[in-house]
Amino acid sequence: MTAKPEIASPAVGEVVLSAAVREEIDHWVAKYPPEHKQSALMAALRIAQEDNGGWLSQGHLNAVAEYLQVAPTLVTEVATFYSMYELAPVGRHKICVCTNISCMLRGSEEIMAHLTDRLGVDPGQTTPDGRFTLKTVECLGACVGAPMMQVGRTYHEHLTPERVDRILDSLE
Ligand code: FES
Repeated sequence: MTAKPEIASPAVGEVVLSAAVREEIDHWVAKYPPEHKQSALMAALRIAQEDNGGWLSQGHLNAVAEYLQVAPTLVTEVATFYSMYELAPVGRHKICVCTNISCMLRGSEEIMAHLTDRLGVDPGQTTPDGRFTLKTVECLGACVGAPMMQVGRTYHEHLTPERVDRILDSLE
């Protein structure tokens, strides 16, 4: 797992979850017994992140904690543990390259080298034009298609440098 960046501002308490976000979180809360609202925490963080252009500020973490009535430290622990949560702004397209064992054996190092060359950034960085953020991640459960990467919500499997180029060229 790659190191997480510091959680960016805005200041504590500044974020108010929109009605649409709260409604979507409520949909997940309803799946669990009332005394286990915290079970919806991962979904709530994903929803808040998507609503905020792909990342979560400290204000968002606090707002989610308050809405689910859970300890802010628990929210921070979850948000900093899982690689799908971003704690600083990201590019328009987030590229997550799996470097776990199956993908490594099938060439993920070559794929990463090609991406860092082509994009001019290292893992954890965003291109200066704000188009791409590049990350390495642990197994994404698509080992049969190794090597693979996730771009946004889409899995791309059986990658080669040429296939990576075609994927990048197809993105705005
Ligand atoms: S090891 Fe890459 S998807 Fe499982």
